[in-house]
Amino acid sequence: MGKIGMTLHQVCTSDELAEGQHRLISHHKGEVGVVRYNGRLVAIRNKCPHAGAQLLLKPVRRTTVSSCPHQIELGYQDGVFTCPWHHWEFDLRDGSCLADPRLKLERFPVEETGGKILVEIPD
Ligand code: FES
Repeated sequence: MGKIGMTLHQVCTSDELAEGQHRLISHHKGEVGVVRYNGRLVAIRNKCPHAGAQLLLKPVRRTTVSSCPHQIELGYQDGVFTCPWHHWEFDLRDGSCLADPRLKLERFPVEETGGKILVEIPD
């Protein structure tokens, strides 16, 4: 980390971000959210690439997949962001849209060091 044209921003302390939760910071280019899910930290711009909804109004979750009657099977164990407006889903692992992988969430480098969660955002 520490590239030219990028700045590290403290999002919160490690103990302020529990599993399954998110934290937001405001930046002059918009909101950036950091999520802890399945032990992984992911930082995204809190803006859907379709029409601009705030993605982190809904929690990260697994998806369901087609299955037999009276059974519920879960897919995407690593979780998806689901847009609250039109319900497009984005894979937490790489930010790609499940329906159209050409659409991707804007992601940022994030690290947990010294009890702090830091995200690197372009200036
Ligand atoms: S604004 Fe997100 S799916 Fe439409």
